Amino acid sequence: MLALVRSIPDSYAQALTAVPADPPIDVIEARAQHAAYAVALAGLGVEVITLAADEAHPDCVFVEDAAVVAGEVAVITRPGAPSRQGEVDAVAAALAGRIELHRMPAPATLDGGDCLRLGHTIYVGRSARTNDVGVSFLRQILASRGITVVSVPLPPEVLHLKCVCARLDDERVLVADGSLPDDTFGEATVVRIPADESYAANVLTIGATALCADGFPQTRATLEAAGFRTIPLVTTEARKADGALTCMSILI
Ligand code: GLY
Repeated sequence: MLALVRSIPDSYAQALTAVPADPPIDVIEARAQHAAYAVALAGLGVEVITLAADEAHPDCVFVEDAAVVAGEVAVITRPGAPSRQGEVDAVAAALAGRIELHRMPAPATLDGGDCLRLGHTIYVGRSARTNDVGVSFLRQILASRGITVVSVPLPPEVLHLKCVCARLDDERVLVADGSLPDDTFGEATVVRIPADESYAANVLTIGATALCADGFPQTRATLEAAGFRTIPLVTTEARKADGALTCMSILI
């Protein structure tokens, strides 16, 4: 497995956020936390490829939003925040030659953080960042590959689908209590965590190991009860920019 990650620019202090960070983002600490994330991935046998930071794009560390990888293809997205649309070129260049690329055209918008894959289905949050044209484009590209795309309505306060849930494996999904209707993920088994730990719903599983946000004991216990070895990682500086664990990599 390969993970594409991207270094943090000095401009990360101005990253998009719904609520201004207080205390403000500490870019030095953000880089230390990001380095620990990359080390954790490498420790699981993942080959980590690091793209250079781009000062013109404060949010560029959140590479997940720039591409949706499904089997042999990747859709290069058109992120919903105009300030982020220029992030995708470097990601496309890094993926070129490794995987078949399809570029999402205007007026489609879609953020990878809205996409959650379980087996042959990709659930796509219909957030403020992802529009119906974006969902349709993804559906059109993946239909011939046997992958179904299902649109999931999201309340306006949820930035991305994976702010409140994450894939555990092909049959199980971790969901914050009260965030999504029970039948959102069809036949998948829903593993619930308490609403007051909803930030920690964004876990990154690699096989039987779960990278999880540090400081959320009930989520960690739930993951371990579900059979995962857990690696807690400090994510305070990603969280200040509304980011979490899956946001910081594209897995191939
Ligand atoms: N700061 C991440 C985003 O708003 O997309």
